[in-house]
Formats: sequence, C-alpha cells, structure tokens
Amino acid sequence: MAASRRSISIRSISRSFTASAWPRTRRRAVRPSRSEPCAQRIFGKAGLAARLFCLRGLVIDDPAGFIRANTRLLAVPHAPEIRLHLADEATALWQKTEDELGEIGLPPPFWAFAWAGGQALARYVMDNPDLVRGKTVLDVATGSGLVAIAAAKAGARAVIAVDIDDFAEVAVGMNAGANGVAITARTGDPTGSDEGWDVILAGDICYQRDMTDAMTAWLGPLAASGRTVLIGDPGRTYLPRERLTKLAEYQVPVTRALEDMEVKRTSVWSLDR
Ligand SMILES: C[S@@+](CC[C@H](N)C(=O)[O-])C[C@H]1O[C@@H](n2cnc3c(N)ncnc32)[C@H](O)[C@@H]1O
Repeated sequence: MAASRRSISIRSISRSFTASAWPRTRRRAVRPSRSEPCAQRIFGKAGLAARLFCLRGLVIDDPAGFIRANTRLLAVPHAPEIRLHLADEATALWQKTEDELGEIGLPPPFWAFAWAGGQALARYVMDNPDLVRGKTVLDVATGSGLVAIAAAKAGARAVIAVDIDDFAEVAVGMNAGANGVAITARTGDPTGSDEGWDVILAGDICYQRDMTDAMTAWLGPLAASGRTVLIGDPGRTYLPRERLTKLAEYQVPVTRALEDMEVKRTSVWSLDR
C-alpha cells in the first residue's frame, strides 16, 4: 500500500485493485477525537446527515448509517431496473483517499460501485431468466449485491450473496430491500466450499492474480460437476479466456474515474466443464 495520499481513492481502486492488501481488523471503535472534529475527519465536506452520524459516535459501528450517509440510491446504468446505494461525485466517500479510508477501518468500498462485469452479468441474467428461475444461486464477490438482485428478480428460488468485506453484507441487505427482493447476504470467502448451488455467478473477479487463481480453481470443479458458472468481465488482466465460452457482449456505461473511459466492452462468459 503506497503511503502517499492520492487525490481520489476510487481511481486507485480500479488501477491497483488492492482489496486483499487492506487490513480488515480496524473496523471497530473509531470515535471522534477531541482535537479534530469527527465530521471533518471522516467525511470532509459531508452534509448534515454525516455530521449527525458522527455526533452519535457511531462512525463505523453503524455501517448502515455510513452507507446511507455516503451513497445515493441510483439506477444501475446497464440494468436500470435495479437501484443501488452507489457512490458518485456527489458523495463524500468519492473524495476519500485510500489512506483516509484505511484510517477509519474501511477497505476500498467495492460495494459502493456497480462494476462493469457485474452490470453485464446482471443484464444477462435478467434477459435470460430461465438460467436461474426456480434455482439456488450463489453470487460470489457480490460487492453491492447487484448480480444477486438480478437473479432474485429473474425468479431464482434462493439467492446467497457472499463477499469477504463485511460492509458488503450490510450493503447487500440495504440494496435488496430497496429492490424488494430477498437475498441471504454473508461475509466470507466461499472458495473451496460447495453447498449444492445450481448456479454460481461472479461479476468482475479477475483483477488480481491470486484471487483469479483461487476462484477458477474452485469454480472449475463446480462447473465440471454440472453447475452453471457464469462470469461477467470487461477484459481484466487475469481473465482465463482459454477456459471460457462467450455468451454475450455489451457496451456497459462505466464511471470514468474508475475505468478511464465511459463505456466498456464487457462480456458474459460460461466456465467450461
Ligand atoms: C470488483 S468487485 C465486484 C463486485 C460485484 N460483483 C460487481 O460486479 O459489481 C470485487 C469484489 O470481490 C470481493 N472479493 C475479493 N476476494 C474475494 C473472495 N475471496 N471471496 C469473496 N469475495 C471476494 C471484494 O471484496 C469485492 O467486493
């Protein structure tokens, strides 16, 4: 983790994808310091809601409050049927540097964005509901819960959404509620486990070598055992193309600050058996 401050943390998330390097044990007990106004320290020029949130001394111990104060409920560009609590230029979270987020115990807020791979996969699932209708679906590396919500809306019997970031679990619950669907949100790393899901969906998981290797080593045998395994991906570095069959391709609107472009060609792939 670079020690220097960067002007916009969100940009560096997409550049380096350093999620796994972020310590995950500093979440608790961030309190206003006497010398430094809490609202200013945590939220920069954030508004009244954030200030009240701080004054209650619930800075990170109230993740739902944090999410509400730092996101807006917005339609997903490529899946506008779905609304999510998302960060954008109008939210204070957008302005945080990685170091500032680390100080308050937050890993990069992947859950506050609708990533290109997730958007494509959500679109594909909602346009092809037979893939999931009546089935048990796992959305791995769920982030905001976008793909899980798409599966629920498409008629899945049960949807489990899992992410290593426990903030994501809270965000998924809030986003599921905002879309009127039921999802079981969990915190954890599911690689190596098998709970008999019929379909496994993974949006934007190929941005780090270790993560991609672990995911594909786990997902390969699941696909080989007859499960449907779909990956949404905009051409990230470690996408294992040789093991994939392309099912669909979209032009997905993305955030320039994240991806250095406004539209990203993004595909949905099936992992071969
Ligand atoms: C680029 S985001 C994609 C989020 C969402 N699927 C989407 O497309 O919008 C990647 C997510 O993977 C999660 N993640 C990374 N390694 C993981 C693992 N081993 N198990 C579960 N989630 C993981 C991160 O916390 C992050 O939320």
